[in-house]
Amino acid sequence: MGRPATCRISIFICLLLALPTLATANEPNHPTIPSLATLLADLDSGARSLDDLRALGLSVFATPFNVADGMGDGPYDPAEADRLAFGHRPTLQGNGLSLRVNGLDAQSCNECHTIVSNNSRLPTLGIGGVGGVVQNAIIVSSLIDVGDSSDDRVQFRGGHEPELPLVEDGVADFNGRYANPPFLFGGGGVELLAKEMTADLQYFLKEARNAPVGTEIHLDTHGVSFGSLTSLGQGKVDLTKVEGIGPIDRASVPAEEVLVVRPFGRKGENFSMRDFDRGAMQFHFGIQPDEVVGEEQDEDGDGLAGEVTVAEMSMLHIFDVTNPKPRIQALGDDGRKGKAVFREIGCNSCHRSVLKTRGKRVPLAFPEVAEDPWANVYLEIDLRKAGFRPTNQGGLRVPLFSDLKRHKMGPRLAETFERAEIPNDEFITARLWGIADTAPYLHDGRATTLFDAIELHGGEAQAARDAFLALPENERQYLLTFLGKLRTPRNPNQELVELVR
Ligand code: HEC
Ligand code: HEC
Repeated sequence: MGRPATCRISIFICLLLALPTLATANEPNHPTIPSLATLLADLDSGARSLDDLRALGLSVFATPFNVADGMGDGPYDPAEADRLAFGHRPTLQGNGLSLRVNGLDAQSCNECHTIVSNNSRLPTLGIGGVGGVVQNAIIVSSLIDVGDSSDDRVQFRGGHEPELPLVEDGVADFNGRYANPPFLFGGGGVELLAKEMTADLQYFLKEARNAPVGTEIHLDTHGVSFGSLTSLGQGKVDLTKVEGIGPIDRASVPAEEVLVVRPFGRKGENFSMRDFDRGAMQFHFGIQPDEVVGEEQDEDGDGLAGEVTVAEMSMLHIFDVTNPKPRIQALGDDGRKGKAVFREIGCNSCHRSVLKTRGKRVPLAFPEVAEDPWANVYLEIDLRKAGFRPTNQGGLRVPLFSDLKRHKMGPRLAETFERAEIPNDEFITARLWGIADTAPYLHDGRATTLFDAIELHGGEAQAARDAFLALPENERQYLLTFLGKLRTPRNPNQELVELVR
């Protein structure tokens, strides 16, 4: 990580030149690792185990980066058209390194993904967990009206776009996104499901492109319906009946891009964990992955190139997808009754208890192609390794309690974000596995109890929410008892800790 310009004279002279400053120079916290090809060859030959590679990934995830690792954007650039974009973001008092609002908010990934259980008076901390509200990300925010002013927009200058009406009403008007960190547990199963679903949707698209005008093709995959496509003839398709995926403006991108299942992020924006990680590196740390800016490129002008290499991002991806699966405790009588209530009142229509994969191995690719998950695969990992149980049909059971679709959740949950590419009232169905341990709830952590999380459901979930509130007290309790059995994994990733040290 973070290579300054190479010293081309002899190593000896270099050392001599460096000696007087060595004691005080900034050193990267992160060690340099071999290339992806070398690491994969080591895995093949047995010189390194999969756990060794996972440990390298954990080290990327947990190392507190510093300036010598590439932490921070480059110098503020007044010519930058979009002041909120990565690379030259304004910083507090021009410190060049941190802001907290709109990223530049932490030194390591694990700083935010730390809580393994909030289900006891002493929370359990660990690797890859959720975050509390203090770890929320404040995303692309151009306005936070902390003082609830009535109309002081004159104070906001060019670069801001606060078109929100400012009214004195106890609401701190906000133009941006506020998101609470989910955990990484079971992420491999989610990624494999999404990739298989995407492959199916792309197949349906090809069919629709070749079908006679007016043919309707249903987008059913893995037991989930993503609506339908209608053929318009001559290779064209009508996307208006596609459900739960794609940007607001479907006409703005090719149909292939719309028909990609993106399970990661609260809004369902990222097709793989690596896809998420690329943005996370830039957003949180101002660290620029080679695979985004190009090898040896110092795009943000902070004096460092190679801030995070393809090999490092690949190891991080291996760590991501091998995070252990959440567990379900024995339900007991009340829990079983609760599971039945959960089904009866329609929670299960979105929070699908189990989805099954066709295969067992999640493909990891570089470079990744969203629409073609099996292109450029460098490694496939059998997810029984992460605790997933096989089906009789050669796949895996993923007990995620989600359909991996977005749904309209009503005005009470809607965000106020003018640059939204996904409607402000839509969120991906939260996966409920592990839910007993992961308070606070909902996309921004606004609910501190499961009851409140359910009560805040609206929109497409209004009927299920109303049915929940109308339940007799004991049945409501059964349902909460059932949710209380959905636990995070025990001691996640602890087996890697010794390998990192
Ligand atoms: C400041 C806190 C913070 C830091 C630091 C952070 N994250 Fe996150 N993480 C979040 C939040 C908030 C979300 C949800 C974002 C959203 O919904 O758009 C998230 C979501 C994720 C997800 C998607 C999980 C899912 O199931 O949807 C992954 C994967 C992830 N983070 C990995 C990382 C990695 C890797 C790093 C380091 C490069 C990192 N995070 C650093 C707060 C953080
Ligand atoms: C129409 C689809 C839909 C239905 C029906 C539905 N939910 Fe949800 N649920 C969601 C979505 C989407 C979210 C995420 C909302 C957000 O991020 O703010 C969510 C979030 C949750 C959460 C919080 C999860 C977390 O990690 O923060 C809980 C708990 C929950 N739902 C339980 C239920 C229960 C119980 C029912 C039945 C009464 C139910 N849901 C019915 C779509 C649905």
